[in-house]
Amino acid sequence: MRRIVCREFGPPEHLRLEVVPDPKPGPGEVLVKVYAAGVSFVDGLIVRGMYQLKPSLPFTPGLVSAGEVLTTGAGVPDLAAHRRVVGSDFGMGGYASHWILPAEAVVPLPAAVTYEVAATAVESYATMLFALTQRTAVANGEWVLVLGAGGGIGLAAVDVASTLGANVIAAASSPAKRTAALSAGAQAAIDYETEDLKARVREITGSGADLVIDPVGDPFAEQALRSLRAYGRYLVIGFTGGSIPRLPLNRVLLENRTIVGVDWGAWSHQDPAGNQRLIADVLGRVAAGALHPAAPQTYPLERTAEALNALAKRQITGKLALLP
Ligand SMILES: NC(=O)c1ccc[n+]([C@@H]2O[C@H](COP(=O)([O-])OP(=O)(O)OC[C@H]3O[C@@H](n4cnc5c(N)ncnc54)[C@H](OP(=O)(O)O)[C@@H]3O)[C@@H](O)[C@H]2O)c1
Repeated sequence: MRRIVCREFGPPEHLRLEVVPDPKPGPGEVLVKVYAAGVSFVDGLIVRGMYQLKPSLPFTPGLVSAGEVLTTGAGVPDLAAHRRVVGSDFGMGGYASHWILPAEAVVPLPAAVTYEVAATAVESYATMLFALTQRTAVANGEWVLVLGAGGGIGLAAVDVASTLGANVIAAASSPAKRTAALSAGAQAAIDYETEDLKARVREITGSGADLVIDPVGDPFAEQALRSLRAYGRYLVIGFTGGSIPRLPLNRVLLENRTIVGVDWGAWSHQDPAGNQRLIADVLGRVAAGALHPAAPQTYPLERTAEALNALAKRQITGKLALLP
């Protein structure tokens, strides 16, 4: 099998492509032949040793991959060989041609969903469906401001919020990202690098946004908070901007606003069965045409470092997949 290996924390250039004998699944495990591995912003942080989850070295990155079950270990009755699946495991290992996973970490893949889409949509869509149905709710006609709207989480947020009946304002840095967000269902777009975010949101909505979805943080977080109307909610999703924002809490108190943390990863550990249902729900909605993740840009496994660097440099609109 071919796999990417991280032997020291650092820039993605330190990753190595290694060839080792194919693994065999143990009891309760499955061996998946990987056709597409999802690349996410988090993977880059993990490889650099900058994420809250610090795996022991060496390790193979990759939290979500899709492929075909080759063999199953003892005690795995339900997963026949050749079954199409998507696997997600915080133990990682997805950047490889073959991946051993606990049987409960794979979900059957509907025929209508490609390996590339499954491998790249699960993390961002599960996070956003969890955020907008379990951490808060979004009502028909509410105004939702999405930061980083052309990224993986951002485009999923635009799609999920639009599907739930919201009017979405997409904030992003490049014309390509704003165009992608408008195509995904946003009603309006803001260049948050050059425009006054709060003023533009007020102009578009009248009284302010009902909900902010923030995977970016600084330097836009405070303006986004101030763009909320009274009783508005602010969903904290991530900090791609770098530093963790320090928000003036008087702006929360004065207008009866609510700040809500969203940690899909932590919840998926606390409720693995609920997470399997959530992932199956995402895939079912994609197969039925109710959610619309775009096909990702693809890179061969040899170009993993290039893929991770492009994401870190804000050059990617949408998602990336590695094809092992
Ligand atoms: N809370 C959860 O449960 C959860 C789950 C999954 C992911 N996340 C987090 O959500 C965040 C976004 O993930 P993602 O997959 O959407 O990442 P992504 O595809 O790389 O998109 C992130 C967006 O952030 C913006 N950005 C602003 N400053 C940036 C900078 N200095 N470097 C890189 N990007 C910058 C970019 O948009 P512009 O160029 O338009 O500014 C970029 O498109 C990450 O922090 C990730 O860890 C959280």
